[in-house]
This record gives sequence, structure tokens and C-alpha cells, in this order.
Amino acid sequence: MALYSEKVMDHFQHPRNVGVIENADGVGEVGNAKCGDIMKIYLKIENDIIEDVKFETFGCGSAIASSSMATEMIKGKSIHEAMALTNKAVAEALDGLPAHKLHCSVLAEEAIKNALKDYYDRRGLPYDEKDFPEFDHEE
Ligand code: FES
Repeated sequence: MALYSEKVMDHFQHPRNVGVIENADGVGEVGNAKCGDIMKIYLKIENDIIEDVKFETFGCGSAIASSSMATEMIKGKSIHEAMALTNKAVAEALDGLPAHKLHCSVLAEEAIKNALKDYYDRRGLPYDEKDFPEFDHEE
């Protein structure tokens, strides 16, 4: 069996939503100290809907594929739905990731949550700290 699914290869080779949003409403940047990969997510939000999302990922193929898939999964969705996106759902949508690459999808979930937290902070909106837990980078 190939190490990477066709979907992973497709999103790695043809990543969707790459780039920067000027005047984004929320920006989240996260990194994994172990592998050194960095992911940055930009959100444009209107009426609680993710109108646009872009990413810049300096990292491995799985991190690029995870960012691409995760941005596709939250585009046009509500903040509530974006908050509910898990790394497991991203990995499943990619038809799986090798065990030692699951942390790449964790980075995508974490970057989106950080961008949403940034949005709440900028708007001065209340939120529950529990919704933004520390992420485990050992996976
Ligand atoms: Fe660390 Fe992929 S190897 S994000």
C-alpha cells in the first residue's frame, strides 16, 4: 500500500487556498518545535460565516495537504462549524495519514482555532478558554 493516499498527494501537489488575506479578520500561526514546520491561517469572516480562508505552510507534504483540506472544509461554514473541526476529521477527509504524520493534521486544527481566537480577541468577543486547549504535538 502506498504510504500516502491519492487525496494527500492531490492536496500536496495542488493545494487549495494558498496565500494571504490582506486585512484578515483573524490570523493564526502555529508551529511544531519538533519538526520545525509552521502553518499560518488567514480568515475573512462576515456574519459569523468564514467567507474566505487562505494558508501559508512552511512544512512537509502532509502539513500542506492538511492545510489545504482543512481550509476547504471550513470555507463557507459558520464559525461554530469551523470550531468543531478536528484533526481527526481532516485526516479522515484525506483518506488517512501515516501514524507519524498525524501531528501534521493537528497543526491544521490548531492553526484554525488560533485564527478564530484571534478573531474573537480583535472583536472583543467573549469566549471560553476551554475551547482553545493546549495541543499535544507528540502525536
Ligand atoms: Fe511536522 Fe508534518 S512533519 S507538520
